[in-house]
Amino acid sequence: GMAKKRSVFACTECGAQQPRSLGRCPDCGGWDCLVEEAALGPGTQKAQALGESNKPQSLGEIEVNGQPRLATEISELDRVLGGGAVPGSVMLLGGEPGVGKSTLSLQVAARVQQAGRRVLYVSGEESPAQIRLRADRLEAVPSGIRLLAETGVEAIVGHWTELAPDLVLVDSIQTMHCERVESAPGSVAQVRESAAMLAAAARRSGAALVLVGHVTKDGSLAGPRVLEHLVDVVLAFEGDRDHAFRLLRALKNRFGSTQEVGVFRMDAEGLAGVENPSEHFLAERSKGSPGSCIVPLLEGTRPMLVEVQALVANAAYGMPRRTCMGFEDGRVALLLAVLDRRSEVDVAARDVFVNVAGGVRVVEPS
Ligand code: TYD
Ligand code: MG
Repeated sequence: GMAKKRSVFACTECGAQQPRSLGRCPDCGGWDCLVEEAALGPGTQKAQALGESNKPQSLGEIEVNGQPRLATEISELDRVLGGGAVPGSVMLLGGEPGVGKSTLSLQVAARVQQAGRRVLYVSGEESPAQIRLRADRLEAVPSGIRLLAETGVEAIVGHWTELAPDLVLVDSIQTMHCERVESAPGSVAQVRESAAMLAAAARRSGAALVLVGHVTKDGSLAGPRVLEHLVDVVLAFEGDRDHAFRLLRALKNRFGSTQEVGVFRMDAEGLAGVENPSEHFLAERSKGSPGSCIVPLLEGTRPMLVEVQALVANAAYGMPRRTCMGFEDGRVALLLAVLDRRSEVDVAARDVFVNVAGGVRVVEPS
């Protein structure tokens, strides 16, 4: 039956819904992040997720060898996915603006199309001409990719049904809207419902779906965080805009490990996989310079050698400065405190600068 319209207050940080407006979200503890939205009728999402034809099956009789995976033909991405995309699954590709999400998406589209599959690339952010310009910078882009500049989910699903693609990419989920939600594109309810409708289309059609999602500077996935439970795979694309180096991690993977990382370099011709990251990081190192040290890190299951540079200088006056790039401030403060207390090394009154070369962020505690 028709659901009566009522309001809920949704958290823009974690997506939790509250029946009334509160200064602080009781779920994630964030302040001033609840916004009013029209509630959907009860059970809307549940009905979609279950479908009508599902019946209990005995565990032993379930077929495990379904369709083979759809290789993205980009080995660093296939590695992170665990051998390619699973047909009918939904992947969320999150990252800060400018990190290279659209570039990676277009390169995946190109490779998959080149391998003889059908690809639909939907952009709510760029015009077809802009996408064409980007494509011209990249390696040969096959002309057969279907481009659609559209933000209405109903229209997208219509074209999707008609084209029957093997892979659909939607850039970005924050620009999408569907008719049954009144709030603006980018709002929690709109992002969640648009993604749910696109995900349902993926499951129905058997196409693999990539949703691109912007992440805000403070690290919270504005919108995409809300989608983590709804998608099968959450990929985080990380990197420093001033450096070419990019890391791709799986934060969630229903079909594989979350231990693998993909390594890329952003060049003038798009993203290139980096098979030996150590070679890349140590290429410009001048041997024997003081304050430089090579450190082995483990990123997922991949060992990586990176250069850490440190400089200790006499503090001019007042509080000594500690400046860290690619390294956690608190950890450096701790190491310095230990050095000061337990050794003869006198660092307490000196300026200390620590930098990881190549724009790498070291989080591994070893
Ligand atoms: P983009 O994919 O647009 O990032 P996002 O979709 O995550 O916002 O890429 C952003 C940057 O990458 C942009 O500053 C230009 C740069 N770039 C290259 O260096 N080489 C390339 O071949 C392309 C297409 C982009
Ligand atoms: Mg983009």
